[in-house]
Amino acid sequence: MSIKNIQTAHLVHDLKNPVNIIETGARSLLDNQERYGVLTPKQEKVVRRMLRNALRIRHLANSMLEVDMASMGIVKIGKSTLSDILKTALVEVFDIVDPLVSDALEDAPTLDILRSILSANHIFLEAEDSHLNRTIRVDETKLCLIMTNLLSNAFKYKEKSVYLKCSEDTEYIIVTVRDDGPGIPDCYHKQIFDQYFQYITVDGFPVRGHGLGLAGAQALAEALGGGLSLVKSPQGAEFVVRVKCSTKK
Ligand SMILES: Nc1ncnc2c1ncn2[C@@H]1O[C@H](COP(=O)(O)OP(=O)(O)OP(=O)(O)O)[C@@H](O)[C@H]1O
Ligand SMILES: [Mg+2]
Repeated sequence: MSIKNIQTAHLVHDLKNPVNIIETGARSLLDNQERYGVLTPKQEKVVRRMLRNALRIRHLANSMLEVDMASMGIVKIGKSTLSDILKTALVEVFDIVDPLVSDALEDAPTLDILRSILSANHIFLEAEDSHLNRTIRVDETKLCLIMTNLLSNAFKYKEKSVYLKCSEDTEYIIVTVRDDGPGIPDCYHKQIFDQYFQYITVDGFPVRGHGLGLAGAQALAEALGGGLSLVKSPQGAEFVVRVKCSTKK
């Protein structure tokens, strides 16, 4: 996926300012009701919907720019931790499905509390604390985008639960995202990474989105010296992302 010309890239970039203004305005109305006036439950619902959609536009604009940069080989390596990256991705995905959980995750002071909020919402984080808190050198924005894409798919298709597993070898961070939904038939395992590819399941499972998320996530993982694959799983869909990283300080 690549942005065809500089005007389009600028257009996508410039979308971010008006979206930020909508986001800040909606948050002010929700968070400062003593100043701006108390919202009725119906008004609050409308403002929350506006906020969720502003976040969606921001996510799309960021994804397009990051994938475009990745296609040009541009990566920005910095210090981070897997726990920060996963937390940011989970906060963003929950912001769309359940903003109250998103706020609770954002404020979670420890990994134990983060885990308990997640498991109360049927998301299971299976990784050692020492591993999650280790300083790594990676392009945080790109890894976070890969995770938001995989998590938003898992949230869309899960029956009830999502499992997040992290492991590492000497050179790579490996994160597995598995859900308990209908899964993906073997015959589509290659195609689902194609741009705009979506399939309609036999039970008429509704198709949402654009079929761009996985193509972008795969391009990002490859730009980070790794890859993204769909592995056979007894139940649901299981994606494994691998990105190169260094744990040197
Ligand atoms: N966890 C999953 N369970 C079942 N099917 C999935 C899952 N993840 C992806 N798919 C299938 O792969 C297709 C492509 O996924 P992809 O993320 O690229 O696009 P999308 O989610 O449909 O739209 P977008 O990500 O652009 O909003 C989906 O339309 C769906 O058919
Ligand atoms: Mg998607």
